[in-house]
Amino acid sequence: MHLPGRFSQLPEYTFDRLRTLLGSNSPGGEVIDMSVGGPRHEFPPWIMDEITLSSHQFSQYPPKNGTSELLASIANWYKARYDIEIDPDKNISVVNGTREALFNACIAFCPEELHGKKPRVLLPNPFYQVYVGAALAAHAEPLFVDAPKENNFLPDFTKIPPETLDGVAIVYLCSPSNPQGSVASRDYLKDLLRLAHKHDFLIFSDECYSEIYRHNAPPGMIEIKSGFEDDLSHKIMFNSLSKRSNLPGLRTGFMVGGAQLIEHFKKYRSYSDPAVPIPLQKVAARLLRDEKHVIASRERYQRKYALADQIFDQHEGYNPPEAGFFLWLDVGDGEQMAKRLWLEKGVKVVPGAYFSFGAEGETPGERYIRVAMVADEQELEQGLNAIGDMMR
Ligand SMILES: Cc1ncc(COP(=O)(O)O)c(C=O)c1O
Repeated sequence: MHLPGRFSQLPEYTFDRLRTLLGSNSPGGEVIDMSVGGPRHEFPPWIMDEITLSSHQFSQYPPKNGTSELLASIANWYKARYDIEIDPDKNISVVNGTREALFNACIAFCPEELHGKKPRVLLPNPFYQVYVGAALAAHAEPLFVDAPKENNFLPDFTKIPPETLDGVAIVYLCSPSNPQGSVASRDYLKDLLRLAHKHDFLIFSDECYSEIYRHNAPPGMIEIKSGFEDDLSHKIMFNSLSKRSNLPGLRTGFMVGGAQLIEHFKKYRSYSDPAVPIPLQKVAARLLRDEKHVIASRERYQRKYALADQIFDQHEGYNPPEAGFFLWLDVGDGEQMAKRLWLEKGVKVVPGAYFSFGAEGETPGERYIRVAMVADEQELEQGLNAIGDMMR
């Protein structure tokens, strides 16, 4: 049996590595799981009725490109959120969450070769794990661009030599970022978009945390004017209802981009992925018309940021996140800290090294742990206090 060699570069998946690290050791207290970034705030209760009402439509194959109701809701949401008009039929692809879309888009858009060589795909380091698997699946060469504290935990693409950029097919950007909660400014996005046009690469802008923020709504790549004629030709934005509406199990998301890009992706996707069931598309359409539940959830996260500020105020390793629901704490040795937290306190967090790439002992996530602030306030406070005590 011959397995494809290119996947041998893939490290063991984050949560499998965590399981191996913690082994069969018993937790040192009541378990507080702060490892997985699964939203746990409430979602609007009416979705149950909506699904029941349209449940007869589970008997139909759904329209593969999205119902007109959902497409209109997405376009209206873009107008309200970013003041940008998009064409529901030409600029949107409805997907089963952004995980699928971020993976598949790389396969759909990465050419076989670029200037006679294997194309490069640039990834932030640390990264959301799916980007790496996608780059390898597309037979591309993943190139990890460190996102250091000195650069607000964002990769500095402007420092990459032009001759390297000429060989790049795709750049993944995550803003607000997982794991650090950084937000790319409009200037940052503009610099990247200019590079994309100059060196003819595509930007995959992963914006699934766009609605969870502390003060100001993060800018989206869609708002950035390239100064070139076709403004949407080099960028695709990815978003979903998972974090915005606390419905990761709904598996509904969307990609927005230039007409030519979306047409190509829809064609590719007709072969690769099932469509989102109609009752779920109905729910998604209605969720996008409702901001009340999003504001309520955001207010809870804002209280969580305040709690983290209060608990970690005196800690040098604390980097207050601007957005998202993770803390990215510099603890000196992330793996050791994750193990101790489990063994001594029953608190489960992820070593930062499991989200980053590099020689052992030298990955940019090595010193960090990632802490998901998804539990209810009481449990969260307990968990953060335990981490704070341990860091002291
Ligand atoms: C950075 C980032 N992008 C994309 C996703 C995928 O989200 P979904 O597939 O639920 O839309 C996640 C989920 O954790 C994420 O953290």
